[in-house]
Amino acid sequence: MYRILHREDLTPNTHLLRIDAPAVARKAQAGQFVIVMIDEVGERIPLTIADWDRAEGSITVVFMEVGKTTQKLATLHAGDSLHAFIGPLGKPTEIENVGTVACVAGGFAIAVIMPIARALREAGNRIISIMGFRNKDLVFWEDELMAVSDELIVTTDDGSYGRKGLVTEPLRELLETNKDVKRVIAIGPTVMMKFASRTTEPFGVKTIVSLNPIMVDGTGMCGCCRVEVGGKTRFTCVDGPDFDGHLVDWDLLITRQSIYLDEEKRTLDIWSKQQVGVTGCSII
Ligand code: FAD
Ligand code: FES
Ligand code: MG
Repeated sequence: MYRILHREDLTPNTHLLRIDAPAVARKAQAGQFVIVMIDEVGERIPLTIADWDRAEGSITVVFMEVGKTTQKLATLHAGDSLHAFIGPLGKPTEIENVGTVACVAGGFAIAVIMPIARALREAGNRIISIMGFRNKDLVFWEDELMAVSDELIVTTDDGSYGRKGLVTEPLRELLETNKDVKRVIAIGPTVMMKFASRTTEPFGVKTIVSLNPIMVDGTGMCGCCRVEVGGKTRFTCVDGPDFDGHLVDWDLLITRQSIYLDEEKRTLDIWSKQQVGVTGCSII
């Protein structure tokens, strides 16, 4: 069992958990992920390692409530335990000194890009970060990302905070005006990563994305996480999750991500009704 040491609500639907997992903490590197099972009959969900403390033996994850398992995870508190916490999985992000790197993240992925931006800066890169949210209420870790960046641009879709619009607009302007940007790291919702890659392609700037297909075992055995990159089939859990965004077959990924939508909706409905029974009020 893996004990939750600390829980924090970063926004109404984005939560941080610090978990006691010394074996994972010993080896964790930026860009890797864990597979979590809440209980022995629960599904396995991948979450990226947002931080680690080797001395304490802990791993921090940040997750957004989107369906049954993440909503169930959000009901846990410090002192509760997780049934399984497997990792670190996947290849770490390649960290090298290329000069200037633009780190672009949307929503919960601010936490995912944080250790990557920190490691790239420690390697001597200049970091220009762009963080995007739907609205002001969902903004978190602005100061934390600023602390590992040389410049930071915040956008919201509705203009309620920072600059109005999508992250791709300041990204395009940055590439037009700053010829020093040698690499872009873009992490967030699949559509955001697709359009960030489309934005950088004409400029010929290498763009690394962290893919998030549906995963089951996370160790290369089930084939569930397969994606097409540069015309080849790759398993995201062992060959990634980082890939060259200019080579990803985005439409195939988006189609495969939605193949269980009916089942996911059904299971969420059942869970929500059970919660009404347990608490006397709905959680959604
Ligand atoms: P559901 O209603 O079951 O699913 C909602 C959507 O999430 C689905 O339509 C599907 O596209 C996706 N999804 C469902 N099951 C899985 C699964 N087993 N594996 C992957 N995607 C799934 N989310 C975070 O909030 N924080 C993170 O740090 C984070 N890191 C990730 C790292 C990797 C390598 C991957 C592949 C995904 C990551 N995700 C992260 C996404 C997260 O795993 C899904 O949001 C979660 O599994 C949804 O589960 P659910 O039961 O709550 O939602
Ligand atoms: Fe099963 Fe990648 S999750 S092969
Ligand atoms: Mg699910």
